[in-house]
Amino acid sequence: MNVWQQRWDEGRIGFHRLEANDALVDHFCHLDLPIGSTVMVPLCGKSLDMHWLAEQGLTVVGIDMVEKAVLEFFQDSARTPHIERRDTETKYSSVPFHLYHADFFEVHPDEAPFEAWYDRAALVALPSSIREAYVEQLVALTSSDAKGLMITFDYPQHEMQGPPFALPDSEVESLFSPFFEIQRLQFTDLTLEEQREFSRCSLSVFLLTRR
Ligand SMILES: C[S@@+](CC[C@H](N)C(=O)[O-])C[C@H]1O[C@@H](n2cnc3c(N)ncnc32)[C@H](O)[C@@H]1O
Repeated sequence: MNVWQQRWDEGRIGFHRLEANDALVDHFCHLDLPIGSTVMVPLCGKSLDMHWLAEQGLTVVGIDMVEKAVLEFFQDSARTPHIERRDTETKYSSVPFHLYHADFFEVHPDEAPFEAWYDRAALVALPSSIREAYVEQLVALTSSDAKGLMITFDYPQHEMQGPPFALPDSEVESLFSPFFEIQRLQFTDLTLEEQREFSRCSLSVFLLTRR
């Protein structure tokens, strides 16, 4: 069984937060989005960040391969979505939310191309071997002037088996620089705060702008 399906089935969703992410709140302004814009949230889970984005006047399009995540997002907010089943994906809509139960690498959202995306625990949830494909899919789904906010996590990979998988600066550079300008908005050393006893651990927030 898929590892994510299993985690959702067993309720092992320690990544889920009960309030909007501070980094999103602090840096959202850099996306510079007019009210009414649409933002994509790849690998969205049932993140409450999607509610926060909607509260800023945005349409929110989330994508997750585990149906339970999508269903719980709507259940938890007492919404009954309209459901549209397609060949390889199902679209759940309750304005301003459209969540696709689909593999991010194969999804065909009606709302693409997106002018913005928000990545929290998405790229770091994927092992290095499929990250290039993730960036290619981002490029395919976004407009030529799109911007993205990405929160990353770095630590010596051999000290823990992911996810989250470490995402060092060098990999951010090699993955994104062919397509995006990269600007770091935040660097926070978490070495002393993390209870997992990494020898080094940090969080970064990047603004990515299509070239
Ligand atoms: C670490 S969780 C993060 C969820 C959310 N971004 C958050 O901040 O709470 C990663 C999510 O990605 C989903 N996922 C993993 N691989 C995927 C893929 N190829 N396509 C779509 N969703 C995927 C998992 O089901 C899981 O809900």
